[in-house]
Amino acid sequence: IIITIISFYIILFYFFYFLPLFPSTGHIPVSVGVTLRTTDKVVWANEFEPIELTCLIESISTNNPRIEWKKIKNGAPSYVYFQNKIAGDLEHRAKLREPANILIFNATRSDTAEYRCEVAAIDDQRDFDEILISLAVRVKPVVPQCSVPESVTVGTSTELQCLENEGFPAPQYHWFHNNEELPQDPKNSLKFINSSYIINPDTGSLKFRRARKEDAGEYYCQAKNDVGNAQCSPQMMEVYDVDILGIFLKCFGGVVNL
Ligand SMILES: *[C@@H]1O[C@H](CO)[C@@H](O)[C@H](O)[C@H]1NC(C)=O
Ligand SMILES: *[C@@H]1O[C@H](CO)[C@@H](O)[C@H](O)[C@H]1NC(C)=O
Repeated sequence: IIITIISFYIILFYFFYFLPLFPSTGHIPVSVGVTLRTTDKVVWANEFEPIELTCLIESISTNNPRIEWKKIKNGAPSYVYFQNKIAGDLEHRAKLREPANILIFNATRSDTAEYRCEVAAIDDQRDFDEILISLAVRVKPVVPQCSVPESVTVGTSTELQCLENEGFPAPQYHWFHNNEELPQDPKNSLKFINSSYIINPDTGSLKFRRARKEDAGEYYCQAKNDVGNAQCSPQMMEVYDVDILGIFLKCFGGVVNL
């Protein structure tokens, strides 16, 4: 009897001692709620190409969750997926792909915006989650507008300009002289080392502090970004030796000082 009682207590002791070490197998783990994930929160697409915004459902218990997508442009939200249908700006231009991704067939520049995927799962403990994705659609530059002075006097300053407004991201500008690209800094080039120009690749300006005879020639500009480039047609810039009229005026003013 005593041995039985002692062994009973030993068994009981071990049972309670080890019990917490073993996980309970009586319950299937319950999802804490709906959780969304995306592969990219910042998405770049090329204009006229397809793009997919991913809204992946990491965990969910509800069978038919409510999926909605909103487009937010300049702070104003509008539906692009509502009541199981593509709507608004994306109507006929996109479709929903499992689990809740949006596939845009042919992106356009007006699709640049923020998009919010919202999933409501009524049978889940946490019954709502949303994810914000920002989409930027790259646009090829169009032919830039170039302004090149027809004639310049040796030793004077002059500026050539180039402007392109469609490209996104904003293009960088490159200038060409007689079909040869002008290096960013003339000091780094044997051929242009004596030229006084300054290029601003962000604004498209090509400025000569003192024009030389050698600076004469045909100029064109190219606007270039990640998706492509475009250039204006070449225009001739002449550089004349002396400004006859200027000298004449200086003589009359009595300030001849050469
Ligand atoms: C995309 O849309 C543009 C403009 O509407 C159109 O010119 C182009 O052919 C379309 N591309 C495709 C692949 O459908
Ligand atoms: C630049 O100027 C220097 C000094 O006047 C001259 O020796 C050199 O040949 C010039 N280089 C070019 C490429 O015109």
